[in-house]
Amino acid sequence: MTAVISVADYQATFGQKTILKQVSFTLKGPAFTVILGENGAGKTTLMKAVLKAALAPHPGSAIQVQADRLAYVPQFRDLGDDYPLSIAAFVGLGLNRGFRPWTTAAEKKRLRWALAQVDLADKADLALAAASGGQKQRAYIAQALVQQPDLLILDEPTASLDAKHTAVLIARLRALQQETGMLVLFISHDTSWVSQYADNYLWLHDQQVTVGAAAALPQAAQSKHSEEVHHV
Ligand SMILES: Nc1ncnc2c1ncn2[C@@H]1O[C@H](COP(=O)(O)OP(=O)(O)O)[C@@H](O)[C@H]1O
Ligand SMILES: [Mg+2]
Repeated sequence: MTAVISVADYQATFGQKTILKQVSFTLKGPAFTVILGENGAGKTTLMKAVLKAALAPHPGSAIQVQADRLAYVPQFRDLGDDYPLSIAAFVGLGLNRGFRPWTTAAEKKRLRWALAQVDLADKADLALAAASGGQKQRAYIAQALVQQPDLLILDEPTASLDAKHTAVLIARLRALQQETGMLVLFISHDTSWVSQYADNYLWLHDQQVTVGAAAALPQAAQSKHSEEVHHV
């Protein structure tokens, strides 16, 4: 299915504080969309609202989502030091087997494929609790990929990755997006790669949202610390 997100007059408020005001936009697959905006602009709030609209749809609500399979990689996740599963078992949770305890040959293959996408093929049996921050982050992404989503939302997925893994991940996600036709929403602070790998941007600023072509990213939406940014 072609994923579509339609937002009409969406407002986000916490108590007295208005985060987003009368926001309207449409995003449609196939596309690789980068979500930009300063800390506190409301990126995570907006993505959570999209998730909620997808999982509990209401006719007439401000956000409408059309997607068969949605996968989400949250910004923060703390599994704890005693989390019992290996990386492979954790990624396999994304397979959605219902109550069936075994995995089919096709599922095992998909699991190996997802691990390979994030360079964790040789770490399959490592306990997730013993993995590094970057390995954990890549395991979360593999768990999303194994679901073969048509809508994939990643909230700052490269925050704990080094420059090399960041570059590899973005290039692979882009290739996958083009192969499958999915809609990828990728929240990022680093904009150095955007014109090369993204189709469009959604920029949150001043309680508003601007959507445009990645090739024409406004100066004000670009990362300020470009000297720290590693090119892909
Ligand atoms: N549950 C909440 N209760 C109160 N304020 C919140 C809550 N979630 C987020 N906020 C506030 O909303 C603003 C936007 O937060 P967030 O969506 O996390 O921003 P971003 O992801 O762009 O950094 C921030 O000022 C944050 O403090
Ligand atoms: Mg956030």
